Amino acid sequence: MNKLVLECQNLSKHYDDGKHQVSVFEQIQLALNAGETAAIVGASGSGKTTLLNLLAGLDLASSGDVLLDGIAWSSMKDKQRAVMRNRNLGFVYQFHHLLPEFSALENVMMPMLIAGKSRKSASLKAESLLSKVGLSERLKHRPSQLSGGERQRVAIARALANDPACVLMDEPTGNLDEKTGNEIQNLIQTLKVELNMAFLIVTHDEGMLDWMDSAYRLHFGKLERLALTD
Ligand SMILES: Nc1ncnc2c1ncn2[C@@H]1O[C@H](COP(=O)(O)OP(=O)(O)O)[C@@H](O)[C@H]1O
Ligand SMILES: [Mg+2]
Repeated sequence: MNKLVLECQNLSKHYDDGKHQVSVFEQIQLALNAGETAAIVGASGSGKTTLLNLLAGLDLASSGDVLLDGIAWSSMKDKQRAVMRNRNLGFVYQFHHLLPEFSALENVMMPMLIAGKSRKSASLKAESLLSKVGLSERLKHRPSQLSGGERQRVAIARALANDPACVLMDEPTGNLDEKTGNEIQNLIQTLKVELNMAFLIVTHDEGMLDWMDSAYRLHFGKLERLALTD
């Protein structure tokens, strides 16, 4: 049976600076099941990052709702939202956002320590995740000692740390050259097959659509479902 992980119900977002009201999108519907991969494409400024922030409960909707595991972000207090996010979601951004003064291993351990795991079990899990993304020889390296592609691999390992139901990615290959971008794309595809996690990926990389279960385009404030050929 399909289990809904993330759901948008009539989701709308406006920005209001007192003078101007900007509508980013109106009445968006989206449903992501466990283990499903979905891509969102759209021109720059179409609202992709805004949508991801709403999905992650980092920003609240103007109307409508986002439900994570059946619970609306709007029904939670800030502290509860932080706990929900840490336990159920993983994040990968265009820029890796790793902590510069910590090693690859420590960066991957961080979400587990925040979730209350012991150092020992966090360290073991981090080591196995870094080996899964091909970095078992780089555990002690700091971000500045890693290549762009390696940093993004660490960011992906970190996103998987708490076995999230869903990983949200905002242009994960956007800052990489083509070859490295393709390697990261292949890694995400392998992880999709191996782990029963949902992935929602905002991307410009049309090549990624080939192995996605579904794809959407944000266009003039609406989310359109794209037909994918098998
Ligand atoms: N904090 C904000 N205040 C006002 N307008 C914003 C804010 N954040 C984003 N916007 C506007 O919302 C629209 C969508 O932005 P964004 O979600 O960043 O697009 P994308 O990620 O697709 O490039 C843009 O027109 C942008 O100017
Ligand atoms: Mg963006």
